[in-house]
Amino acid sequence: MSYDFKVEAGDKTTLYRDLASALEGLVAGEPDAIANMANASALIFASLPDVNWVGFYRNVGGELVLGPFQGRAACIRIAFGTGVCGTAASTREVQLVEDVHAFPGHIACDSASNSEIVVPLIRDDELLGVLDIDSPVAARFDKEDQAGCVKLGEILSRVL
Ligand code: SME
Repeated sequence: MSYDFKVEAGDKTTLYRDLASALEGLVAGEPDAIANMANASALIFASLPDVNWVGFYRNVGGELVLGPFQGRAACIRIAFGTGVCGTAASTREVQLVEDVHAFPGHIACDSASNSEIVVPLIRDDELLGVLDIDSPVAARFDKEDQAGCVKLGEILSRVL
């Protein structure tokens, strides 16, 4: 099997379709959650333009704990309900944040980040964790990104 997945940046529909397909191939048949989160963060980080952090926070006993990621070192523990990730975890709703500096309680891990999307990862009504993607570009993520990232989250929730 080749691991040389290259997702070319075209229009967003094509980009997310190809990215979802590459992710499916990458995690197929692999039951190890850490391996899958590690490869997923690498693939997404290399495929999406204008992102500076892509990674996971896992639900460990009702607290978010840093998982595999790409980008600068980040805060390790986040309480449910705190910041963008903690809000996604407590509400179980995608957080699409155009300006992180205007988000109450936003946790600035990398001062370069200006916008962010966080997708809750749920399987059988259990919150497994969240997928967090940051960008230095203001309002980098729109509804199309949201739909694409939700699809990535669905693929991941099956293999975490
Ligand atoms: N900004 C996030 C914290 C995680 S870092 O961006 C990697 C938040 O407010 O939850």
